[in-house]
Amino acid sequence: MNWCCLNGELMPLHKARISPMDRGFLFGDGVYEVMAQIDGRIRAKSLHAQRLQLSLDSIGLDTSIEHVFADVDRLIKKAGFSNAKIYIQVTRGTSSVRNHSFPSIVSPTIFLTVSDFEAVSQMTSKAIVRPDIRWRKNYIKSTALLGNVLLMQEARDSDAQEAILYREEYVTEASTSNVFVIRGQKVVTPPLSDLILPGITRHIVIEIAHNLGISIVEDNIRVDCLQEVDGIFLTSSTRGLMPIVELNPGGSVGNGKLTSIFLALQDAYDEKLRCYD
Ligand code: PDD
Repeated sequence: MNWCCLNGELMPLHKARISPMDRGFLFGDGVYEVMAQIDGRIRAKSLHAQRLQLSLDSIGLDTSIEHVFADVDRLIKKAGFSNAKIYIQVTRGTSSVRNHSFPSIVSPTIFLTVSDFEAVSQMTSKAIVRPDIRWRKNYIKSTALLGNVLLMQEARDSDAQEAILYREEYVTEASTSNVFVIRGQKVVTPPLSDLILPGITRHIVIEIAHNLGISIVEDNIRVDCLQEVDGIFLTSSTRGLMPIVELNPGGSVGNGKLTSIFLALQDAYDEKLRCYD
């Protein structure tokens, strides 16, 4: 049975109901988090809590993070998974009329799901490269994901697993992950800005690279340079470090083989995943 938690109440997922007047449904007026639980512990829980707080603050939505995470703990216990993908969504709740502006009294809708999850190193993948058609506040983990949805579907329709995005001539991120490139002995990832999500996996990879003595910099990456790099990988909580071996347009990445730097980072990440608090 799949369990969820809706506004503090644990229930089978198929029993959960929300109003069609929920602003999450009408406007995408809400934020979310996705976390991985590995061997019974939520990876980087405090970083996810901080990012959820940032997203909530950024849209002016006041709710208790402590209560949300207490509900997450209750849900995980009920569902009984050791390895799980945890989804948290907080919307600005319902109101009786559809108005763009915020209702005067807000009672957020808090919806949590948990599903089985296997943390495995990702197989090599292909990515399409497309203009970033999304809005300009991508540091907010907004539930309004139509741009990301369309881009991911375009990737799938092109027999690829992700869409790497660029704005003007610089890489921003991918439709559901952050981007890293390897040039010789150096790893580069776009700097944090309003245009990208501050990925938790991105943060962990930067930390791991420092610990391993691998040179890593946050710098702009020109999209036309993607074809000249030795390696590309994408990061997210659910897919870990995902190596990209082919671009469309662009063809093979590097010599088509995974670099030793990538393999060292991936090994260290897989190791760290089990003990990162
Ligand atoms: N996506 N950038 C975007 C646009 C994302 O949607 C995600 C994660 C990331 C990586 O963030 P993190 O390392 O914190 O997972 C970057 C999640 C997994 C999702 O939407 O399902």
